[in-house]
Amino acid sequence: MLKGKTVLVGVSSSIAIFKACELVSQLRQRGATVHVLMTQNATKLVTPLTFHALSGNPVIVDLFEPKEHSIQHVALADQADAFVIAPATANIIAKLANGIADDAVSTTALACRAPLIIAPAMETKMWEHPATQRNIQTLQERGAVIVEPEEGWLSSGKKGKGRLASIDKIIAAVEMALGMKRDLEGWKVLVTSGATREPIDRVRFISNPSSGKMGFAIAQVAKERGADVILVAGHTEVSPPEGIEVVKVKTAREMIEAVMKYAGWFDVLVSAAAIADFTPKQTVEGKIGRGETETLVLELEPTPDLLATVRQRCPTVFLVGFAAEVGEPTQRAIEKLRRKGLNLIVANDVSQPDSGFGVDTNRCIFISADGSIEPLPLLTKREVAERLWDKIKELRNRV
Ligand SMILES: Cc1cc2nc3c(=O)[nH]c(=O)nc-3n(C[C@H](O)[C@H](O)[C@H](O)COP(=O)(O)O)c2cc1C
Repeated sequence: MLKGKTVLVGVSSSIAIFKACELVSQLRQRGATVHVLMTQNATKLVTPLTFHALSGNPVIVDLFEPKEHSIQHVALADQADAFVIAPATANIIAKLANGIADDAVSTTALACRAPLIIAPAMETKMWEHPATQRNIQTLQERGAVIVEPEEGWLSSGKKGKGRLASIDKIIAAVEMALGMKRDLEGWKVLVTSGATREPIDRVRFISNPSSGKMGFAIAQVAKERGADVILVAGHTEVSPPEGIEVVKVKTAREMIEAVMKYAGWFDVLVSAAAIADFTPKQTVEGKIGRGETETLVLELEPTPDLLATVRQRCPTVFLVGFAAEVGEPTQRAIEKLRRKGLNLIVANDVSQPDSGFGVDTNRCIFISADGSIEPLPLLTKREVAERLWDKIKELRNRV
């Protein structure tokens, strides 16, 4: 999360400018206050209005037309926690390297002491030119972070190095520069969340009140800390976090099939979904009407066990389960951990009003395979997610 952080985005006139729209939007969605500064040439490619709408703040192009009674470049430079220039043309890079301050972007950069992140984009020959390379080196020596351009298709129709780095990489560089943790980089994580729905007939189902909030918080924190994350989500009351691949499923069987498709890809599975233990043996076609039967008996059969199936197929995966119990959950959670071969289980008593289904807080106990039991205080689900990843990291480092 970038809540409470002010990020300046300097935009120069590269054809990759359309990607800066996504960058600004993503930074804002992650909670940052975003101010966009554009070079005059950049406004010939995309209008300031676009960035105004995406950032929610007026765009600065001309320092001599202040919209407020302050010297904008100095005021903004002082507010900034990070200054990212993306896309950065060969020209703006040359100006930054040489201390030239003749437009809103370069002038503000010179006045700014926040971390500077530069994401260049240009044709291969411009990128490889010794002048550009020397300018890049100068900026690096001065502490700027360069998000290297990538190889690939360029707007000239040629292939080569010079494509703007992915938005994910640029945001990761901003977060790193802000001192945020990227300690799960390289981890491949699958998280399940939400409730499954087991159909009785075409309009009725058996389910539970799981909102999906816990699983979403776990997926989001993993993503922010650098992991590659896939989310398999049943029915949820809230929208999934942005920027994460989501596979939507309905039933327990679909959830297990979706997870098993990724078997071999993930090295950590956190199963926070409330998966039905039983499903109707038969689903009635159409709708069961009130007058059709005096009493209705549903015959249920057990659903396949996700965690046990994964443990069988993937013996080395780090497996985390949840035990939502009514009443003191520790003993039943320990039994579940042993029976399913889990590395860690998160137990909670869902009969408490501040814990479990639907609410934003949770009171959990971490129980690990080595026998350690760690009760946590009442925390927000996001805080539980942070603590959970710390715990998983600690346990995986021990192996
Ligand atoms: C359509 C178009 C696309 C351009 N794309 C790039 C580019 O990707 N990278 C680059 O360094 N220059 C690019 N240029 C050249 C720059 O716009 C030019 O060097 C300009 O003077 C840079 O101004 P600025 O850095 O103030 O935005 C492009 C020019 C045009 C007309």
